[in-house]
Amino acid sequence: MVAGNWKMNTTLQEGIQLGTQIKNALQDKQPACEVVIATPFIHLSKMAELMQDSIVKISAENCADKTSGAYTGEVSAAMVRSTGAQYTILGHSERRAYYHEDYDILRQKVLLALENGLKVIFCIGEVKEEREAGRQNEVVKAQLEGSVFNLTAEQFANITLAYEPVWAIGTGLTATPAQAQEMHAYLRSLVAEQYGQNMAEDTTILYGGSCNAKNAAELFANPDVDGGLIGGASLKADDFMTIIMAR
Ligand code: PGA
Repeated sequence: MVAGNWKMNTTLQEGIQLGTQIKNALQDKQPACEVVIATPFIHLSKMAELMQDSIVKISAENCADKTSGAYTGEVSAAMVRSTGAQYTILGHSERRAYYHEDYDILRQKVLLALENGLKVIFCIGEVKEEREAGRQNEVVKAQLEGSVFNLTAEQFANITLAYEPVWAIGTGLTATPAQAQEMHAYLRSLVAEQYGQNMAEDTTILYGGSCNAKNAAELFANPDVDGGLIGGASLKADDFMTIIMAR
């Protein structure tokens, strides 16, 4: 899978324009991967409509930890699903850091997303200090145990993992292919311990963090890197296309 994460970028009109460029560019291509675009909530319905006759699937970037009711400003998983979006990102480091989403909140969000028919791109990753202290494995393990390893195997089959070292996000500092491979192999071993070897092999594990048109092929060449979650470079149709075709 190659998934774009637009974050808080593009007005609705700009988003439709970018989506149309990507859709058109994909028309005569046969990518070897699933293509997903995660957009702000207000774009979802238009984007889902736009991509109806395309291979692109639409994702939200977040959803609420509550079902419905008096939670002003929140958007529920059911609402996201009703737009035609098929995925939601959860656990992005920006949500964890700026909006204080902890393991418990994320566990709720994951359950509600799955109950409402959304697939989840679940992000994990260590900050710079944790990497420097050699604690990255322990950090990602706790993130998985805290929010997704409670799921049944049937539920977990709808989870895509995205390893995003926080020190690499938006910084231009990409993990080396060797660092990515080492971590992805470790993550797959954790899934194998929890859900068995078959599930581990079937789980898609994306790399994210300054993945771009230049370094994507080298990162994707690793046996345990199944694609990418792309921030900045997904906002340029040409770059995003190059990354898709690198998978
Ligand atoms: P980036 O962001 O590609 O801009 O580093 C990746 C992400 O946060 O998903």
